[in-house]
Amino acid sequence: MKLTFLGHSAVRLEADGHEVLIDPFLTGNPSATIGPDAVNPSHIVLTHAHSDHLGDTEVIAKRTGATVISGFEIIEYLGARDVSGHPMNPGGGYDFPFGRVTFTPALHSSSFPDGTYGGVAMGVIIDMAGKRIYHAGDTALFSDMGLIGRKGLDLALLPIGDDLTMGPEDAVEAAALLSAATVVPVHYDTFDLIRQDPKSFQRAVEAETDSRCVVLEPGSSLEL
Ligand code: NI
Ligand code: MN
Repeated sequence: MKLTFLGHSAVRLEADGHEVLIDPFLTGNPSATIGPDAVNPSHIVLTHAHSDHLGDTEVIAKRTGATVISGFEIIEYLGARDVSGHPMNPGGGYDFPFGRVTFTPALHSSSFPDGTYGGVAMGVIIDMAGKRIYHAGDTALFSDMGLIGRKGLDLALLPIGDDLTMGPEDAVEAAALLSAATVVPVHYDTFDLIRQDPKSFQRAVEAETDSRCVVLEPGSSLEL
């Protein structure tokens, strides 16, 4: 499986001919290296409705026919705009052609750019090609990450930007609770508000937990 960091919180997963996007914020994302025309997903997974996660979802879904997988309120909203979706909520899992998606809690808000309520913000676990990946979405540190960690994670994508999500110190604590084989920091440096030093986060994770930490430049990939 190939995981590509598309900048901010956006990730592309590719395996066995399947392409899945998570939180495809590309247009208007200063750290994105590709635009919405360069992706061709069958499914788009959204953690919440904020514009830096919803991003180009509608445009990409309409061009490719991709199915959006997200919370009930988000799917209702997009459905009214002729985007096909699969509604879920925290704790629920479902088997898709590319693998299994299970949403988790996250401590964060969720509303659309026009103010419409977006349901609860979530994290997500994706089982694909024999790998288990956790994308925490936007969240604070919470102790139930320890329960998510018990599932056995190959990789955890954790926000470290601070201000809008947990910062690096709490993200190291999150990494300790999750005990994923590999941790990748996301949601930093996109805007001045969330400037961080990912190398210092990497050193802290590798000193204080058993996880390897990989800092991915936007546009770069990791083979799992
Ligand atoms: Ni957010
Ligand atoms: Mn965000």
